[in-house]
Amino acid sequence: MRATARAHANIALVKYWGKRDAELNLPAAGSLSLTLGALTTTATVAFEPGAGRDELQLDGAPAPEPARARMSRWLDVVRARAGTDARARVISANDFPTASGLASSASAYAALAVAASRAAGLELPARELSALARRGSGSAARSVFGGLVLMHAGDSDAAAFAEPLEHDREWPLRMVIAIIGGGAPKAHGSRDAMEHCAATSPLHQGWLASVPGDLAAARAAITACDTDALGRVAERSAMTMHASAMAARPAILYWQPATVACLHEVQAMRAAGIRGYATIDAGPHVKVLTEADQAGAVAARLQAIDGVGEVIVSGIGGPAVELEG
Ligand code: PMV
Repeated sequence: MRATARAHANIALVKYWGKRDAELNLPAAGSLSLTLGALTTTATVAFEPGAGRDELQLDGAPAPEPARARMSRWLDVVRARAGTDARARVISANDFPTASGLASSASAYAALAVAASRAAGLELPARELSALARRGSGSAARSVFGGLVLMHAGDSDAAAFAEPLEHDREWPLRMVIAIIGGGAPKAHGSRDAMEHCAATSPLHQGWLASVPGDLAAARAAITACDTDALGRVAERSAMTMHASAMAARPAILYWQPATVACLHEVQAMRAAGIRGYATIDAGPHVKVLTEADQAGAVAARLQAIDGVGEVIVSGIGGPAVELEG
């Protein structure tokens, strides 16, 4: 009745931004990501027959009620599948700032999917684990797998899962993450922000229409292990997503001055022959896709920018795994 699992965060190179179905959390389009070795969540789930309600401890303290209630609704999905009504005690810890736009819900719900299903006695194949993680957070479906990962839009609960993408050779991809704004909680959670964009942004349909072409281009770049081609797609996908968010009414503006400074610096780096491509999620931080031999130079240049705090260099992460004990 108890299990522990660990999962890595991921950064989308072709973004997920919009839902087809809020209840089942089905995405309106596919997405594609890189799992990051440096950012992890470890989660323990213990079902306790007789307990009155689900409890969640997050980074050593009782979780805020919205996070606990959200997890509790998600655990209902696990309970329905396992045929139990036992409540659970859950302990989740990140080794990076929670809810700062660093994809903590992705690693959290991927780790929870592995731990909760095992604790409930379920033996789920990877695709079903991925679909289960998606019910908690769309991006979590991708963190079930390591490396480069494709999320299918799917038109049903079972069809909306992620899968890892193969490529030919060892590929020394790195993600350089510039933390901006001190890791403070973000202003707009992704769930509400996506809904607001779909309802009010005149650019939302254009954003959705851009995704299939970007997915095809990203997949071709992955087959060829072409970092520059993949980086170009990643940068334009992020820009298109944020353009739609900025056009929402009222606007959703995740960027801080240092965010814009990083974007200019990435362009200046490329002009100077350093190969890096920027992406930004639902927060101010800038993540730069590059290769191992360039990562030190990219990190040094981002670190020198006013308003940039910590800079993290991450390699490729593996799949979510159950831990012993
Ligand atoms: O999975 P959610 O609901 O946290 O949404 C993720 C949204 C983005 O991080 C902005 C994009 C993505 O594909 O991860």
